[in-house]
Amino acid sequence: MEYMKRTSTCGALRKKDAGNTVILNGWVYRKREHGGISFINLRDRYGATQVLVDENSPPELVAISAELRNEFCIAVEGIVRERPASMVNPDMATGEIEVLASRLLILNRCEVLPFQLDEEGDIKEELRLKYRYLDLRNADMQRKIRLRSEVSFAVREWMSNQGFYEIETPTFIKSTPEGARDYLVPSRLHAGKFYALPQSPQLYKQLLMVSGFDKYFQIARCYRDEDARGDRQPEFTQIDIEMSFVSRDDVLTMTEGLMGYVFKKCLKVELPSKFPRLSYEEAMDWYGSDKPDLRFDMKLQDFAPYVAAGGFQAFKDALAAGESAKAAGLTKGISIEGGAVKALVVPGKANYSRKQIEELETQAKVYKAKGLAWMKVAGSSDAPALEGGVSKFFASNAANIVRGLGAKTGDLILVCADSRARIANIALGAVRSRLGKDLSLCDPHKFAFVWIVDFPLFEFNEEEQRWEAAHHMFSYPQEQYHPTLESDPGAVKGDLYDLVLNGYEQASGSIRIHEPALQKRIFNIVGISPDEAEKKFGFLTNAFKFGAPPHGGIAPGLDRLVMLMAGETSIKEVIAFPKNSFAQSPMDDCPSVVELKQLDELRLLVRPEPR
Ligand code: AMO
Ligand code: AMP
Repeated sequence: MEYMKRTSTCGALRKKDAGNTVILNGWVYRKREHGGISFINLRDRYGATQVLVDENSPPELVAISAELRNEFCIAVEGIVRERPASMVNPDMATGEIEVLASRLLILNRCEVLPFQLDEEGDIKEELRLKYRYLDLRNADMQRKIRLRSEVSFAVREWMSNQGFYEIETPTFIKSTPEGARDYLVPSRLHAGKFYALPQSPQLYKQLLMVSGFDKYFQIARCYRDEDARGDRQPEFTQIDIEMSFVSRDDVLTMTEGLMGYVFKKCLKVELPSKFPRLSYEEAMDWYGSDKPDLRFDMKLQDFAPYVAAGGFQAFKDALAAGESAKAAGLTKGISIEGGAVKALVVPGKANYSRKQIEELETQAKVYKAKGLAWMKVAGSSDAPALEGGVSKFFASNAANIVRGLGAKTGDLILVCADSRARIANIALGAVRSRLGKDLSLCDPHKFAFVWIVDFPLFEFNEEEQRWEAAHHMFSYPQEQYHPTLESDPGAVKGDLYDLVLNGYEQASGSIRIHEPALQKRIFNIVGISPDEAEKKFGFLTNAFKFGAPPHGGIAPGLDRLVMLMAGETSIKEVIAFPKNSFAQSPMDDCPSVVELKQLDELRLLVRPEPR
């Protein structure tokens, strides 16, 4: 089809172009009539230009203009002219000019829109996803998808310059347990057998190290059959990285370099050259979370020193029960954590109502807290006092407590006690996060990176009464724990690290085990028999017998990274075609029923009801 091909985009024209004849192609974003003149806001990826059809135009032109509706795709020929000073629009890059149309061609009409593209916020997500191609025309979505493209490019640029090879790994792989459920792909040629879609390229990137590639990266699609959330999708993208002959600090330094480059190039934001580090224990102790938002401080503090002198039984009981559990553990030679009483000072919130405090308590209870005690700081800075809540139990020690916690008159003190320190920390940490949002303590323009290091290697699965790998089974236990791996798994720290950004786990990685004998011990502790290990991971453990180098790596989540860079709270906002919260795509209606013939070819039977 011969049509009026553009000579310029809708974002390009400036004052210097005045007098030129141009052709623009784009979509009618808005149209308004004013004193016999039609003003058409014509838009494309590059911007928007004001087009005029004035009253002196030939009748054919006026007639076509009258037909135009929002989102018609059109071509316009016209002359660029400078706007009178009073009509200049400083908010538009092309705001100094307009195009007086001499020819109009409708390239394609648009039906009644399911929603207005410039309506922010109010459109139901399901509708946006059903008409995603329209939703993506919105300038804000265009900005985010562009940012994503720029971030991917910057990643490739930096990694290549650092000597990393980009190597693709298969997406039809052997099903291996990795934490979430696998998505399975039935094989037609080998009926009854299945491929799995990779939860990450973990095993392949380790094999590439055995092959001697030394520095690998891949912008890799990963698939996990788990419940979708704001920061999770069933299919997502990782910047997957692996390196040989490195220690933990080499991987952290490399990642800091990558993030620094990407933020500077794509956002013009200068990150610190080193990110702060917290051990997992510190993160839990101070923030009650292994992904703390460090845009604000408000640390959890130890209230235990004030418990004995106070008269509040619940606090005393929590500590006593914790001590007994710890002692019982010791007799069996295992480390069990004790209890804790932790406090959070909320600056200036002594005026919180009973109802507001109850809401915080409800939040704490979601995380299994038994309660949330509170006191208000009253009196003067010279003679501080405690009021309300459980203050009567601590009246005689008030000045000490207030000073010890660094609280001020007018502050609110929240306290959580539990016989398991972990529960007190996590519950109060959840209250801290909630307050961060409620009190707008999180500056949306700030990027607070923090490394969390020294994670426990194992976690105890209470339901199944067995030890599991906290990250995955290939992470290296720190050297000093090698003699006690089997006797005290709970105390073992691994060379694992997470990169956290504004309260989100942004990346995760570890130094890997490269010795077959050590790998065997880990399989044994998490209850994988030699037979099972051979069946499931034989290809990896066998490869390690052939001179595997020491290696380690990391995988930043690309979706989460771009989400945070774009100032969003859902990764769907930075994925062109995401799934909804039920792992469906309302646009093409998948997952969907398939033809019986397809099932027959695969020799699959679909059971009408679950077993
Ligand atoms: P992990 O499972 O922690 O580690 O994943 C690494 C990073 O990927 C992102 N991510 C997700 N993003 C969106 N939706 C999801 N469902 C999702 N799951 C994870 C997060 C996370 O930090 N193979 C290891 C990495 C390694 O050890 O090198 C791994 O996959 O940002
Ligand atoms: P009670 O004495 O059980 O009525 O509790 C008095 C207050 O102490 C309530 O505000 C409870 O939420 C709080 N509380 C009870 N147990 C705990 C606990 N383990 N940690 C923190 N606060 C608690």
